[in-house]
Formats: sequence, C-alpha cells, structure tokens
Amino acid sequence: MNENPSFQRVQQRKMLVAGNWVHAKGGEFVDVENPARRQIIAAVPRGSAEDVNDAVDAAILAFESWKRVPPRERGRALQNIADEVESRSEGLARLIAEETGNALRTQARPEVKSSIEMFRYFGGLASELKGETIPLSRDVLSFTVREPLGVVAAIIPWNAPFLLASVKIAPALCAGNTMVMKTAEDAPLAVLALAEICAKHIPPGVLNVLTGTGTECGAPLLNHPEVSKLSFTGSTPVGKLVMEAAAKRIIPVSLELGGKSPSIVFPDAVDDWVIEGIIAAMRFTRQSQSCTAGSRLFVHKDVYSKVLEKLCSAVSKLKVGDPLSEETDIGAIINRRQFEKVCSYIEEGVRQPNSKLVIGGLPNRPEDTGYFLQPTIFGQGENSWRLAQEEIFGPVMVAIPWEDEAEVIRMANDSHYGLAAYVWTHDIGKALRTARDVEAGWVQVNQGAGQQPGHSYGGYKQSGLGREFSLAAMLDSFTQTKNVTVNLVH
Ligand code: NAI
Ligand code: MG
Repeated sequence: MNENPSFQRVQQRKMLVAGNWVHAKGGEFVDVENPARRQIIAAVPRGSAEDVNDAVDAAILAFESWKRVPPRERGRALQNIADEVESRSEGLARLIAEETGNALRTQARPEVKSSIEMFRYFGGLASELKGETIPLSRDVLSFTVREPLGVVAAIIPWNAPFLLASVKIAPALCAGNTMVMKTAEDAPLAVLALAEICAKHIPPGVLNVLTGTGTECGAPLLNHPEVSKLSFTGSTPVGKLVMEAAAKRIIPVSLELGGKSPSIVFPDAVDDWVIEGIIAAMRFTRQSQSCTAGSRLFVHKDVYSKVLEKLCSAVSKLKVGDPLSEETDIGAIINRRQFEKVCSYIEEGVRQPNSKLVIGGLPNRPEDTGYFLQPTIFGQGENSWRLAQEEIFGPVMVAIPWEDEAEVIRMANDSHYGLAAYVWTHDIGKALRTARDVEAGWVQVNQGAGQQPGHSYGGYKQSGLGREFSLAAMLDSFTQTKNVTVNLVH
C-alpha cells in the first residue's frame, strides 16, 4: 500500500472507466509530487491489467455506437470540449504547473491554449474524413471509405501532458475510434481534469483514462488483444516495446520518440533574434524537457565566440524558480530520477577533456528545495561526446564549432535521432540546402517555434514513426481505408 506518511491528507483521485470514476481494482495508489516544492499533492489509482480489461471492454462497447455518430456531430463534441477547456484554462494551467514543475507563464498557459486549438482544429475536420473515387473504367465504380480502427491505446509522457493527450484524443475520436489512455505517473492530474471535461460531451466509454505505472498499467494495455492501434509518445526504448507489442498482433503503431536536434548557426546570423530563437529552440523555459530541443548547437567558427557570448548573456537573464510565479521563466525538473540523470550528464561534461563550461553547471542541492537546474552550456564540444549523442532531456546544451558546410551537415546527421532541426542564416540558398540535406522530420529556418495545428509532425530514424498534429496525420494514424469496387453492368 501507500508508504507516504501524509497519505490521509493527500487527495485521492479516481480514473475514468466506462463513464465512471473509479479506484484501481487493486486499491493502491501512486503519489504525485510537485517537483518545485517536493510535496506530494495527490495520489492517483495504481491501475493494473484488471483495470485495463475493464477500460478496453468499455471502449469496445462504446465503439459500436460512436462510429455511427455522424462525423460532424463528433466534431461538434470536440468543439464543445475546446470551449469548456477554454473557460477553465487558468485552473488547468495552474494544475499543469503544479504537477510538472513547468512555469505557468512560459509553459503551462501556452500548453492549455495549444490544446484548445487542437480540439478546435480536429473538431472542424470531421467532414474531411472522406475517400476518393478511382477511375478504373466507365462500367466500374470504385471508391474508398475511411473507417475508424476501433479501440486506440494511447500512452503519453509527462513533459507536456495536456497537449500530448489532446493531440491523441481529438483526432482519434473525431475519426470515430474510442480510446484507452494511460497517463504518465508524474503528471496525470491535468489529463484527468481533461477527461472530466471530455466525459461531459461524449458518451461513456468513448474515452477511458487510466493512471498507473508503465509496467503495471501501460504494458497490459499495449498487449491487450482487443486493442486495434497503439499511439505512443515517450522514450525510444519504450517505443521499441510498443512496436514489439504491435508486431505480435499486426496492428498499426504511431511513435513520437526522442530527439537530439541540431541548431545550425551560419556566420551571417549573429542578430539578437537568432539568439532568442536558439534559446526558444532549446526549450530552456521547459527545462529543455522536450523531444524537439535544439540541444546540439553548431556555430560557425567565425562567429563562435560572439554567438556564445551573446547567448550566455541572454540565458543568464532567464529566471529559474517557483513555477507559479509570474516572474519565473524556467521551472523545475519533473522528478528526482530525471534530476539525477541530468546532473550526471553535467558531471560528465565537466570531466570531459577540453570541454568548457560556459554557463550553468551543477546546482547546490539543499535537500528540501525543488529540482531546479540552471541552463547549462558546454563549449568546444565534439559531436562524438555522449553529451552530444544522447537525449539528456534537461537544460544542457553542447556548442560545437564548425567550418565547412558539408562537415556541419555530416555532424548534424551523425545521430540515430532525426526529429527536428533549426537553421539560422539570412542566406536563402544556405537555408534551403541545409533544410534539404538534414535528416529530420521538422526543419525550422530562423525560428524555434512549437507545433501548430495542421503541421505534419514526426520523426525520421529512431525519433519515431507516423505523424501527428495534421489532417493527413489523423487520416493516416486513426483510420483505415476500405476500397469498394462495383460492377455497374452485371
Ligand atoms: P518513458 O518512455 O518511460 O515514459 C513515457 C510513458 O510510457 C509513461 O506513461 C510511462 O508510464 C510509459 N511506460 C514506461 N514503460 C512502459 C512499458 N514497459 N510499457 C508501457 N508503457 C510504459 O519515459 P520516462 O521514463 O518518463 O523518461 C525517460 C526518458 O525518456 C527521458 O529522459 C527522455 O529522454 C525520454 N522522453 C522522451 C519524451 C518525448 O516526448 N519524446 C517524453 C518523455 C521522456
Ligand atoms: Mg510530479
């Protein structure tokens, strides 16, 4: 049972199964900690295979009627969810900030706003779930229809939980599927609040939201024989398990995995907006807990010192602290495990021969404060360092000087990841050549923005499989195509 001594004072939440709010069948809980205050703020059910079975049963039952609801009505339900999320947005943003440690002003509020946009966007696309006619011959009518897959199993991480939940729920439900979602153990609360809103606008069982650990609740969900599609966002090692589970039953899978994205600065790009863009691309204000973080900074040697100097000056102005304070730019790392992991990379960077700690470094670690880290940059980096090859998922950037365009492309592509890339230059030829040659699913030139509705988002190489955020992604990820061919003369 729960070992937390303040157990009785902590609010126990329930999860959503078949339209009912339930405890786990096993009766156990998982604590949710606010990582900035290091306080347990709630306990959520510790779901297991039994709960997964109930949720999948409910989703199977709901599918029979949900798939028959006219698409525009399903879309309308999503629009209503968007409206209600909007009316409760400040409370939801505060909840996200409390459970994730992400700063309210720079992260949590924009995250809620993006989620609202996702529900609106996909809600408006219901009539686009259309097929095509195929001109086989005058006497044959051949057409395709887009049909939903059935029960979608979705597993999400903690770094932007509300948005990542929305970007799976909205297109999957719009297309007529039902869903069982497992939240991340570190950040289930805002997604449970979203489930509560969704439940008011859709029939019971269409969306079921479970809480619990990856092995106890996530794994049985992936391996449930009645699930028709796996949609996962998280680490590459778990992504491989997801694909193995899909392979056993030949079901489709979408994977949004890690990244180690290059940010390439050409010698003409030393403007202040470039510096701001590099910082945005690095997602320093989300403690760089982002799969698209531009964490390998390749700077042309002619401007290397100048760019690093300006970058450090701008980064030093970012305020790390209480996520709920309006002054704060950067909040806390999600949990002790990630904090220790990031610290171990910083230690390794400091030990690395020839490395230069340009800003940041290891924190003082008084036991009672939150998991705060300063933005950290190592200079004179080499692309072969573990720091430059592995996804740190924390505010640690490696700056690597380069001289020759072909060389920087080679280094940028020397990674088993291929999620995002950022290119900084005024020269259109250089920008477009780099965009052409870099192996990444998403290249941004002269900006470091986040995903927008309509954007075809996903990874090359081990960064993932499939796309999210767009109409094409909804059609590819959450429908299957049936071809009907009719002979008109017999
Ligand atoms: P993770 O991949 O273990 O967790 C993501 C989700 O998968 C969570 O809901 C978790 O409960 C679930 N899960 C874990 N093991 C599972 C299993 N065996 N079967 C089914 N579900 C399972 O990521 P974690 O441990 O939170 O973070 C570790 C590293 O992963 C980070 O340092 C970062 O490098 C990467 N990561 C990448 C993310 C991305 O957006 N691409 C998001 C979160 C983490
Ligand atoms: Mg937490």
